[in-house]
Amino acid sequence: MVLSGEAPRLARHYPSVGGDGDAPAAMAAMRELLTEPPPPVLDTLTRPPQTNEVGRSAALASGMMVIAEETGLPLQLRELATSGGLNLWPDAYWYEQGGEGWGDASSPVRFTDLWEGGTPPFSAPCEIVDRRGCDRDPIDVRTHEGALTLLSYVWPEPASRFVRARDAIRLFRAAPPAIDRADVRDWLPGQLEPRSAGRALVVYHSVFWQYLDLDTQGELQMLFHDAGRRASAEAPLAWLRLEPRPDTYIPAQLRLTLWDGNTKEPPDRLLATTGFHGGPLMWLGA
Ligand SMILES: C[S@@+](CC[C@H](N)C(=O)[O-])C[C@H]1O[C@@H](n2cnc3c(N)ncnc32)[C@H](O)[C@@H]1O
Repeated sequence: MVLSGEAPRLARHYPSVGGDGDAPAAMAAMRELLTEPPPPVLDTLTRPPQTNEVGRSAALASGMMVIAEETGLPLQLRELATSGGLNLWPDAYWYEQGGEGWGDASSPVRFTDLWEGGTPPFSAPCEIVDRRGCDRDPIDVRTHEGALTLLSYVWPEPASRFVRARDAIRLFRAAPPAIDRADVRDWLPGQLEPRSAGRALVVYHSVFWQYLDLDTQGELQMLFHDAGRRASAEAPLAWLRLEPRPDTYIPAQLRLTLWDGNTKEPPDRLLATTGFHGGPLMWLGA
């Protein structure tokens, strides 16, 4: 309601729309608004929250640079649970540390000096040749309603996070990649085979694994391992994921398993730890 101009008293305190960030005053205005809950609020409460955090591209793109460096091949991206698809376009954003960078240098969405302890291989020849995602309930950010829904799940402060999401939506609208409405279990098998030689297939996801029951997690793991055994140096398979640390939830862990024909059981590597909304990345290296 703040974003669509229907709650001006509350908007006065929301940094995302230029408000003063006075939290107690926002709470007072919120209480007033909810005394008789307006229809948009009641309607929203019938649906689960659905986010799409652009800040996760900083970690995901770092992993993609590692895959490009190690395989020497252009990348085909396949994102599981892509939501609005804002992390399907990591090369439309800019990543930089210590004067080195990767991505689109003119992008308004910028990740600068976030890496600690080392950096990903910014100078790797990281070219993305195609991309596709799936979600069981994709948000179409090309529509006003879809963009509003996604932006409404971004906290109102810091405003920079909100502005980043808004800029990413604008970029995405100019060149939207394909997103299929599908359950991951039905979609993944068709993406793993057949594979093109001369391309590295990168299947990735962020903050999604926890929504699967243990049986489904096991099923998907089997799919990856089976497809991985058929991978080769000409048609490698990478499984890249940014997910909560299993025992403590935080920090998020960026993990990579890369099948390139060298060994049937490659190691599951921890590349970095980070937060869930972008922010500093502790780089542990490749
Ligand atoms: C917390 S959101 C994360 C979205 C996005 N990956 C990100 O990091 O911004 C989780 C997403 O998983 C999707 N999802 C959950 N279970 C799914 C399934 N079985 N198949 C496809 N999508 C699923 C939801 O619709 C939602 O968009």
